[in-house]
Amino acid sequence: MNTTSPLDCKAWPQLQHHAETWRDVRLKDLFANDVARSTQFVAEAPGIRYDYSRQRLGAVTLRLLANLAAERGLPEWREALLSGKPVNTSEGRAAWHTALRAGPSSPPEVLQTLERMKGLVSKIRGEGRFRRVVNLGTGGSDLGPRLLADALGDRTLDVRFAANVDPHDLGRALEGADPASTLFIVVSKTFTTQETMANAAAAREWGRSGGGTHFYAVTANVDAAKQFGAAEVLPVQDWVGGRFSVWSAVGLAAACAMGFEQFEQFLAGGREIDLHFAAASPEQNVPVLMALAGVWNTNFLGCATHAVLPYSNALRLLPAYLQQLEMESNGKRIDRAGNAAGYATCPVLWGAEGTPSQHSFHQLLHQGTQAVPCDFIDVASDEILSANLSAQADALAFGSEDGQSPGSRPSSILFLDRMSPQSLGRLLALYEHKVFAQGIIWNLNSFDQPGVELGKLLAKKILSGGN
Ligand code: F6P
Repeated sequence: MNTTSPLDCKAWPQLQHHAETWRDVRLKDLFANDVARSTQFVAEAPGIRYDYSRQRLGAVTLRLLANLAAERGLPEWREALLSGKPVNTSEGRAAWHTALRAGPSSPPEVLQTLERMKGLVSKIRGEGRFRRVVNLGTGGSDLGPRLLADALGDRTLDVRFAANVDPHDLGRALEGADPASTLFIVVSKTFTTQETMANAAAAREWGRSGGGTHFYAVTANVDAAKQFGAAEVLPVQDWVGGRFSVWSAVGLAAACAMGFEQFEQFLAGGREIDLHFAAASPEQNVPVLMALAGVWNTNFLGCATHAVLPYSNALRLLPAYLQQLEMESNGKRIDRAGNAAGYATCPVLWGAEGTPSQHSFHQLLHQGTQAVPCDFIDVASDEILSANLSAQADALAFGSEDGQSPGSRPSSILFLDRMSPQSLGRLLALYEHKVFAQGIIWNLNSFDQPGVELGKLLAKKILSGGN
């Protein structure tokens, strides 16, 4: 499979030349000259419509980008990903998160773990022994379950999260709780992460005053969790990356918050997108189109950041989740072959929920000195919300008569048919496959995170008195 530099692809200089011709193209004129544009640059995935007509690109751009993806060997790499081949080349592992949501054809160990999760969730939600559930984890062991619980929790249980080693965070999670009716779920693939282990120790201390602490654990390091004294230990396979792990037992706290059936619907939504990603043609493959629009904006139009703006309070934690997914995956300067990339890779991803974001940083989006490509997400929950979303996308695209807002600022809109476990599953799977496709185009291994180790090492050194 292709691990050479994308700079060696025929399509790369063609795209560079093509970008020159696009420098002064105004979106306003594109729409004025092509009445079909708003229906042509749209693609459908199950339950999601992707409108990219306000991206600064045309049919020729798309053809050149599709050529680049083909030269990069995206179809072969996609096949390898979906069939569990070791695409995580630096760690010699698969990245088989799709197997966690493959329904009955999931690997036996996945089905066993789901069965155990189901039993535990109905016990925790049904027996009334626990009123508070506290997820202790960070990164992928926090951001995914926290997003699901916040977006879809039904308040049957009070499910809280503590990720920071700052005692204030655990303090918040334990406000008004008592040890007897509080269950801690220690979630750590390695079961070595400093902050999570420190919080688990602090939780144990807190429980001592109330007759002891109740611990479950979710980890790939089952022996360490048993040694720690967890009453239940749910395994995570080593071929599941942290930032792709919400579909696994890492989602236990979320399943406690939303109910196991809703969690299964979340998995089903992800599965629908896996089938779409595997089979849809490049012109209609939403994750691929999202990836190509991003590469065009970053590598050929020179945009250094990307904003995600969910017009949904339920999705307020989505930007934080996507920051890890995108930037820990593709925030890399060294390519798969170990060479310095020599081209831009992952843009800085940021964002917040709309409409509050309008009253915060949209001034910069409209009139700042740098163009920020935006993903707007519409969950069809409110007409005022949707009207504001469309207004923002149009204002970015077409600008103001007086030219103060220059316009021609690219954006896409993802229309979800509703806010539900299934639609959230679809949305997260879309971004996962977008990230994978971009990693292939940038010749990156999207599944390791070597850059996080140095800081951990230095912190340990400082704590042990070294310098
Ligand atoms: O430090 C980064 C990281 O390794 C992430 O990739 C991961 O999601 C997070 O820390 C937590 O790791 P663990 O689940 O092993 O505690």
